[in-house]
Amino acid sequence: MSDSVRGAYEALGAHPGIRRAVDQFYERIAADPALTRFFAGADLDRLRAHQVELLAAAVGGPGRYTGREMSHAHRGLHITDAAFDRVLGHLNATLVDVGADERTIRQVLRALSQMRLDIVED
Ligand code: HEM
Repeated sequence: MSDSVRGAYEALGAHPGIRRAVDQFYERIAADPALTRFFAGADLDRLRAHQVELLAAAVGGPGRYTGREMSHAHRGLHITDAAFDRVLGHLNATLVDVGADERTIRQVLRALSQMRLDIVED
């Protein structure tokens, strides 16, 4: 694992920092009227816990992602490109708000952008 990858996990404050960021991320999502319909039936506690694992792994942190594959978790939700962009926008705003540096933010967004094709259906 390269130093730059390990650096991003620590820059986010390891698991406690990532947990705080994920909490704020879903507060922003819940407050966005363009997104509420997608999350209406979701188990938010499980979602948050799995998002922490996924983000930690995406920035080279320890631990393993134990949730479903992205294509399976989002199947049938009819997520659009526009909704995907809004979600990433909320993540960007959250990371700025928790004080992550630009390089770390770019790394997180790059890793998650790669999941677009597995998540967007419409
Ligand atoms: C790169 C962007 C995204 C990532 C990394 C991501 C990640 C995740 C993860 C880790 C889960 C939990 C899977 C599980 O518990 O097995 C999940 C579930 C979910 N995601 Fe996403 N997601 C992304 C984009 C989106 C978008 C754009 C939407 C809607 C606009 C969305 C809506 C949902 C919903 C509703 C669930 C819960 C599904 C259920 O409970 O059955 N996600 N996502």
